[in-house]
Amino acid sequence: MFRAMGILTVKDVNLSGKRVLVRVDFNVPLGENGEISDDTRIIAAIPTIKYLADQGAKVILVSHLGRPNGEKNDKFSLAPVVAVLSKRLNKPVLFLNDCIGESVHKIVLDLQDGDVVLLENVRFYAEETKNDESFSKKLADLAEAFVNDAFGTAHRAHASTVGVTKFLSPCVAGFLMEKELKFLGEKTSNPERPFTVILGGAKVSDKISVIDSLLDKADAMIIGGAMAYTFMLAKGNSIGASLVELDKVDVAVSAIKKAQAKGVKLLLPLDSVVTDKIDFDARSVGELKVVDEDIPDGLRGVDIGPKTIDLYKKIITESKTVLMNGPLGIFEIETCANGTFEIAKAIASSKLTSIIGGGDSVKAVKKSGFADNVTFISTGGGASLEFLEGKELPGIVALDKK
Ligand code: 3PG
Repeated sequence: MFRAMGILTVKDVNLSGKRVLVRVDFNVPLGENGEISDDTRIIAAIPTIKYLADQGAKVILVSHLGRPNGEKNDKFSLAPVVAVLSKRLNKPVLFLNDCIGESVHKIVLDLQDGDVVLLENVRFYAEETKNDESFSKKLADLAEAFVNDAFGTAHRAHASTVGVTKFLSPCVAGFLMEKELKFLGEKTSNPERPFTVILGGAKVSDKISVIDSLLDKADAMIIGGAMAYTFMLAKGNSIGASLVELDKVDVAVSAIKKAQAKGVKLLLPLDSVVTDKIDFDARSVGELKVVDEDIPDGLRGVDIGPKTIDLYKKIITESKTVLMNGPLGIFEIETCANGTFEIAKAIASSKLTSIIGGGDSVKAVKKSGFADNVTFISTGGGASLEFLEGKELPGIVALDKK
């Protein structure tokens, strides 16, 4: 894919013996005591780091963590990442408590071939998110080449993703970046057909451009989650007290029309699990029951019902490629997670290319226990969504072309 897009990757250049600034996305979730609660993004960057270190590059890792608003804040330190990294790489990783400055510079100049260091959170400087030129230069001065493996941050035009590329050469993509583009790009643009897209989540407004863009590519589009109620209303169903975006009903109408015009099967729930009460804090709901398409007054949809699960499963098993973005019900509440988990199971147990497109759908698939059986899980949240919308991501655009 990258070669087709004309972007160079680590495989195209020889970085042996060079100091290489590697932008990774170690923006990992932290638990109450500062422990890393999900190390997926760290593990996903290991192949690139290992490849570079094994060929004798001096690897200087740079990342952000959270949104510290341009100020040093220990709560957002990248220090906890070192233990995971060094265990996975099976070698020591040196942590530097800053990302620029004289002492950092001195240490990186002394690095030996194959050494790996991790710089402190680059967002401790406000200049990072402003893509400040002199800050970019200071970061770039640490190295002789740039590798971007931070797909999750590729939609941000920041100093460490875009600014540094003005001062370093070559600027190439890492393996994770390459893989993300292969699955979210190539495999959904030229999919093995039938290609089914599953879209869920709370809001149509978050997915307007994705719906539009994917209706050009898919053979079937399955809608679930609360956004389905806006579509059902557009179709003329009653939706009771379900979550709805009244100002997006016209978007749903246009999508339904576009699907018809393009011959894309647009599938909406045939039945829903409903309740009269939802307490998000206590993660509990009132009494649950299943109703057909029309939801009675006062009741709210919380999950897809059994007929819908059967229909969606049938479409999935007939597909060769499935892309899922967004959960199909309130999966965070155990009694409302059945639809999402059943669909995850159907995807994981079918012979097809399955791509989980980032954000909440990743959490849902992991929680379902079937994550190991899907083909690809994106490490991007906002980046995946923007990429699937068809937008050019600045972090990718800034890399060297052949
Ligand atoms: C993400 O988690 O989506 C990326 O790391 C980007 O983080 P940001 O939204 O704070 O820029």
